[in-house]
Amino acid sequence: MSFNVTWLGHASFALDIDGHKVLLDPFLSGNPVASTTPDKVDADFILVSHGHDDHIGDAVSIARRTGATIISNFEIANWLGGQGIEKTHGQHIGGGYHHAFGYVKLTIAHHGSALPDGSYGGNPCGFLITAKSGKRAYFACDTGLFYEMKFYGEEGIVLAALPIGDNYTMGPDDALKAARLLEAKAIIPIHYNTFPLIEQDADAWAKRVEAETGSKVVVLKPGGSYEI
Ligand code: NI
Ligand code: MN
Repeated sequence: MSFNVTWLGHASFALDIDGHKVLLDPFLSGNPVASTTPDKVDADFILVSHGHDDHIGDAVSIARRTGATIISNFEIANWLGGQGIEKTHGQHIGGGYHHAFGYVKLTIAHHGSALPDGSYGGNPCGFLITAKSGKRAYFACDTGLFYEMKFYGEEGIVLAALPIGDNYTMGPDDALKAARLLEAKAIIPIHYNTFPLIEQDADAWAKRVEAETGSKVVVLKPGGSYEI
């Protein structure tokens, strides 16, 4: 049983869950900090949290090349069907489904979700992923702070990926509050230092979180991995 998480930079992850390749918000082309390129990644599944370019990113081209199934909200799944993607799976917030690699539940995210062509992208989401081993990870994706994170924490989270960039998402202060609510064993900060507007000191944030909560903070460099 394995659950390996590789941060590709910004909010993009490559997950290896018991041998299943799962990409999350694969924004690689046009991403100044991406650790890889869309032609080099492998995928059985692609999770897309919302319609913004820095999240849906290269999902279409990667799905076309790999034949991966894209999991997203109902509106984005439909839109992807219109782009010629054959394998999509639409869900919605609060709803979970047993996929081949584990149970995926869509969570609240306070954000926007317009698609690159201006189409309506439904409500943005985050993801709670429970592997068959029972290990549960929470990917907040783009969101502000919200108190329901406490309930996610009560389910027992071994890893949380939280945005700290501020401006478009939680900044360091609210992300610290999120860490308190989630009580995850480990936290990976994301969505910072991609562009000047979201510059943050992740090491300083890590020290605060570790001083004030029981969570360990794993500050990865793009391309860096963490085994849950
Ligand atoms: Ni966004
Ligand atoms: Mn974003």
